[in-house]
Amino acid sequence: MHSIDEIIESEIKRPSVFIDESRLYPEYIPERLPHREEQIRQLTRLFKFILFKPGSTSIKALLAGPIGSGKTVTSIVFGTEFSRLAESKGIRLKYVHINCSKSKNPSGIFRELKNQLGLAVPDRGLSATELASSILKIIERDNIYVIMALDEFDYFLRSARSNERYLVVRFYDVFDVEVKRLSFIYIIRGTPVYISSLVDDLTGSYLMKNIVVFNPYKSRELYDILRDRAELAFYPGVVGDEVLEYIARLTGVDVGGDGNARKALAILHAAGKLADKEMGEGRASRVT
Ligand SMILES: Nc1ncnc2c1ncn2[C@@H]1O[C@H](COP(=O)(O)OP(=O)(O)O)[C@@H](O)[C@H]1O
Ligand SMILES: [Mg+2]
Repeated sequence: MHSIDEIIESEIKRPSVFIDESRLYPEYIPERLPHREEQIRQLTRLFKFILFKPGSTSIKALLAGPIGSGKTVTSIVFGTEFSRLAESKGIRLKYVHINCSKSKNPSGIFRELKNQLGLAVPDRGLSATELASSILKIIERDNIYVIMALDEFDYFLRSARSNERYLVVRFYDVFDVEVKRLSFIYIIRGTPVYISSLVDDLTGSYLMKNIVVFNPYKSRELYDILRDRAELAFYPGVVGDEVLEYIARLTGVDVGGDGNARKALAILHAAGKLADKEMGEGRASRVT
């Protein structure tokens, strides 16, 4: 019989194939985004006004693509880097990422905006419009600019009433202020055609103007993504190229898969877990 602390101790010391398993988690934000350079470039071209003429216009971008095509991670990496660059030029730009499957209505969205910005605005008893108006006053007073990404925005478009959609999509038609401190990234799962079926006259042309398309990944592209991530997560030499190529061939859109990077990484993670277990039992030293 082993004592509990012996069991824990030996599990901790057990050899592993992983340097850092968390680098395979879906929420891990990598430093590099292979094959999303063009999308980052497009976003920069749209938002660079904020650097040259902050407040002159409110920018709206729409990111569209299927699940696992890198919309969320690209928005976060772009927003984080771009606001860092702005700050280095003396512009107080904040990036805020809001998931509309959690914040389902305008009140929820603006409350989340307020919380992520750390603003001391009491929100009890305020309507969504009043709350947004208070937020605008404070960011004006504090000279703050914001890029607000609304992820899973298709949830919102499907469930919101038309006046709610109007408020969130045509924000500065509701708030007539001179300095436009709030810009938007709307993230929607689906093809541009599907999205145009989702939007109505109120929101349609507004949303469809600056569209950045995310195509499902080809197997070659998935291979590069997998290799990058494998280098971060596993010890050198434990994941052979043939494993990465195999997963890429299962999932690439050009070979009948759905081009979903999330799925490809999940398969790599599962293979790694298996090899890790076998290694602990002394039966394997590589991911196969
Ligand atoms: N180009 C890429 N480089 C590195 N990792 C990527 C890339 N595209 C997607 N991923 C990873 O794949 C997973 C799914 O991406 P995500 O941005 O959540 O897709 P979407 O929002 O389009 O469903 C995440 O773990 C993400 O980090
Ligand atoms: Mg996403």
